[in-house]
Amino acid sequence: MVKAVILIGGPQKGTRFRPLSLDVPKPLFPIAGIPLVQHLIESCVQVPTLKEILILGNFPCADIVPFLAEISPLYDQVKIRYLQEYTQLGTAGGIYHFRDQIKAGNPSSFFLINGDVCGDFPLQEMLEFHSDPKRKNLITILTAEATRQQSMNYGCLIENKETHQVLHYVEKPETFVSTLINCGVYVCSLDIFLIIAKIFSQRQSNYYLGEAESNGESWESIALEQDIIMPSAGTQGHIYVYHSNRMWSQVKTAASAIYANRQHLDLYRKRQPDRLVGLEEKLSSSCQVIGDVYIHPTAHIHPSCVIGPNVSIGKNVIIGAGVRIRESIILGDTVIQEHSLLLYAIVGWDSFIGRWSRIEGTPSDPNPNKPFAKMENVALFNEEGRLNPSITILGCHVRLKILKSCEKKCATTNYEYGHLRSDTTLS
Ligand code: GDD
Ligand code: GTP
Repeated sequence: MVKAVILIGGPQKGTRFRPLSLDVPKPLFPIAGIPLVQHLIESCVQVPTLKEILILGNFPCADIVPFLAEISPLYDQVKIRYLQEYTQLGTAGGIYHFRDQIKAGNPSSFFLINGDVCGDFPLQEMLEFHSDPKRKNLITILTAEATRQQSMNYGCLIENKETHQVLHYVEKPETFVSTLINCGVYVCSLDIFLIIAKIFSQRQSNYYLGEAESNGESWESIALEQDIIMPSAGTQGHIYVYHSNRMWSQVKTAASAIYANRQHLDLYRKRQPDRLVGLEEKLSSSCQVIGDVYIHPTAHIHPSCVIGPNVSIGKNVIIGAGVRIRESIILGDTVIQEHSLLLYAIVGWDSFIGRWSRIEGTPSDPNPNKPFAKMENVALFNEEGRLNPSITILGCHVRLKILKSCEKKCATTNYEYGHLRSDTTLS
């Protein structure tokens, strides 16, 4: 039997995901129609021996538990629980704090998954590799290839190509180490708790002796990467690499949600085509759908609209005649009036977009000409203080209305108004 632990952080995190993370915790943000963390749950439940998923975070229970109660019946073969950390305990401190819950029932090992990644994870294959009796894996790390420059934003590894043992590990190095990066998805043996226990006891003694280094974090915060993997690499620490070239991406910024949306719609096409607007619907009298599109069954879309590729439309959305949308996420209860255009945009819940609006974002996808390029999570401003081009985001309850004074002019000249150029964020 195995378990999975998903680390979702807390309300202090997700600042780069604003304003969208102000209304909903980032792990609950819908990508291709379902919350980010639900995609991770769906990956976990594919593993036949998996019995329990523990979601660890610092969000108040009220933010997460109702959602889990709502989706749990869909995955009745596994138990899904939320365990709230009283403070941010770090990527290893949280699992140590809740070690009894993880160890209960004596699982052979457990998956540990960062809540801000998405992809097509080979979890069953990783488990088989991890459990191979020829080795004695303590941690198996899912890795991917990145470009030389982008690798430095991730944990970087050097492996023994024959044994796949990790020889060297640096977390977000300042100079180039390796293009092999940590994907934030692990299989861990229960012996990991013996190692964390030693670190914990050492920190506890230092704290009570008044010798603890203060870096602003609680002394109980322990990082899997810096405190466990880095020192164990190259020793008999039994840290191993499982390499995959399948789809993988981080979801750090709102722009990366558009990319993740496209990737998950693509996965639906391969694995769960019934979640996409099907061929029959495409040929029927409903609106024109191009490529991969998810439309919630309660959405009302005028037959003259053209939607896609790579669009997700949420619950109770109403879209008027002649609207064109591509590469965008439209969240629930939003109204988009006639002839508006949305490109590379996210529209938050319960927003209103007056007719003939143009909402254009700038694509910020990985460079298609660079093999293994990942999504660039750029800062809001560049070094010269200029806004970096990105997608356009409307937060929740935004009203983008037609001014009365423009109405007549619009009627006669087809004038565009409510014109938001890229990089615009309204909340
Ligand atoms: N429960 C809990 N408690 N979760 C946490 C905590 C904590 O104290 N701290 C971080 N997390 C969660 C975050 O919400 C996120 O989902 C995940 O752990 C990773 O934490 P970050 O601190 O944001 O690290 P990162 O994403 O910059 O880097 C990590 O992931 C990369 C792959 O996405 C590292 O593991 C890198 O080595 C790796 O390449
Ligand atoms: P994580 O996303 O949790 O990893 O946060 P971070 O603190 O690492 O992100 P980063 O330092 O890149 O965030 C940039 C800064 O911009 C933070 O101080 C945010 O508070 C701020 N910021 C980001 N988005 C918005 C926004 O939509 N509105 C405002 N007012 N500030 C924002």
